[in-house]
Amino acid sequence: MPAPDLDTIVSLSKRRGFVFQSSEIYGGLGSAWDYGPLGVELKRNVKNLWWRDNIHLRDDMVGLDAAITMHPTVWKASGHLDSFADPFVGCLECVRYYRGDHLAQTVLDSKWYAALKKLLAGPAGQKDPEKALRNWAQNDGKKLAPNMPLVKNPQDAVGPLLDVLAKSATLPLCPNCGSAKLSEPKPANLMLSTMLGPVEATGTKVYLRPETAQGIFVNFVNVAQSTRKKLPFGVGQIGKSFRNEITPGNFTFRTREFEQMEIEYFCMPGTEDAHFAKWVQSRFDWYVKYGIAKERLRLRPHEKTELAFYAKECTDVEYLFPMGWSELEGIASRTHYDLNQHAKHSGQRLTYFDEEKKEHIVPFVVEPAAGADRATLAFLCDAYAEEQVRNEKRVVLRFHPEIAPIKIAVLPLLRNRPEIVDRATSLCHQLRASWISVYDDTAAIGKLYRRQDEIGTPFCITVDVQTVGDREKGEVGDQKVTVRDRDSMQQIRVPLAEIEACMRECMAGRWADVAKTYPPQAAKE
Ligand code: GAP
Repeated sequence: MPAPDLDTIVSLSKRRGFVFQSSEIYGGLGSAWDYGPLGVELKRNVKNLWWRDNIHLRDDMVGLDAAITMHPTVWKASGHLDSFADPFVGCLECVRYYRGDHLAQTVLDSKWYAALKKLLAGPAGQKDPEKALRNWAQNDGKKLAPNMPLVKNPQDAVGPLLDVLAKSATLPLCPNCGSAKLSEPKPANLMLSTMLGPVEATGTKVYLRPETAQGIFVNFVNVAQSTRKKLPFGVGQIGKSFRNEITPGNFTFRTREFEQMEIEYFCMPGTEDAHFAKWVQSRFDWYVKYGIAKERLRLRPHEKTELAFYAKECTDVEYLFPMGWSELEGIASRTHYDLNQHAKHSGQRLTYFDEEKKEHIVPFVVEPAAGADRATLAFLCDAYAEEQVRNEKRVVLRFHPEIAPIKIAVLPLLRNRPEIVDRATSLCHQLRASWISVYDDTAAIGKLYRRQDEIGTPFCITVDVQTVGDREKGEVGDQKVTVRDRDSMQQIRVPLAEIEACMRECMAGRWADVAKTYPPQAAKE
């Protein structure tokens, strides 16, 4: 069972230190989030695994880290200055803004729409819908949608409203206050700008990049010449991007500051379709490899009408987030448009010399463009599970071990026995050389296990009296510890001398084999 709703993830994130509202003590900034101690580890794992799998493990890939601020002409050439815009609609009464193309869905998701649908489906609405609506207008309606025509003027508005609601059609009303006074949709450019230079009057207006991709295109010749790479080859980059989104929301899903993980894969013209198909599959498989359930992932090829005029194809990897299927990553076949545009605007030759044909060619490009924040959110939502254990709710994040922020928790069974505490802390320090490990003695063992379950730690190791024996009695203990698997809650007894080898097997996903090798331990939870 993945996360039932986003609120569950938002509150767990705050409670456990994954994600906090930005500038919370000042009332927060709606479109920005801060990653806490666990969130920063989680997101770093996502980015590091992306980098390792797409760059380090491939012969045909290299990395880049371009600047966030770029020459302003970059954005003229890329088309962002002229056409990187979304249509926005404003409410003239409560002064809220909405994406024009998302307005219908935003109305369907609004509190007042849900309340009206519930009312009409209930006994009062079924018996006399007009009367129920008029009552609602005089009571809840005043709070939920004070500017709605029904609330301001129930006599005239009730009939037409009933017609629309009966058809489940959406209403051109403000999702916040219900007002019908909405502006016509107008395009709003999404670029954020700033000034470079200490004196505003003489500074240069520059843009914060809205995508990392252009940093790769403008460096194409630098990378090709310095690395002597032959086509096909790709350049990957991870970094911050900024967009003045009209309606940021759904937690970290849509923000104005976010991180992208993008690849520009340069290939011979004519070979792009095969590379496109391979990248689509490879990027889908990547999410599955690190634990996202296949049934909550799908590929959505774009309709021809959705494509930019220069693009040949585009397919989104979508994830079934709690708010519905939404884009996780887009893979686009972009022809040679970007390189040609930058060549035209810079006056430089952005080509690759084909040694066989002895001619300069402009490579075609396949672009897998992912979001680090969206991927992190998807891993978090997908890992979430609730279950009943001995009549109590257990919340567990079933992260893949490589995604989990903490890999091992070392727990002393008794914190008032110095030999247990010493042994547990030294074991934790030993394990840290290979895995992120924590020591915790702040509660009883059952509570400590639940705490680690809730943050997704795959393995706990417990040091107890049996491990260390009793110094005063001259007993040295059995020098074994209890290893507990988060998902099955099974426990085994492992000699300290074998603990690192054992953990290596566990991290590689071979718990079932490990559990057959060592004697089981009766669960102390
Ligand atoms: N260079 C192509 C490009 O930027 P995009 O589909 O606009 O394509 C790629 O962005 C990915 O970046 C998206 O699939 C998403 O994961 C992430 N992304 C885009 N806008 C975002 C936003 N406002 N907040 C969080 N992530 C975003």
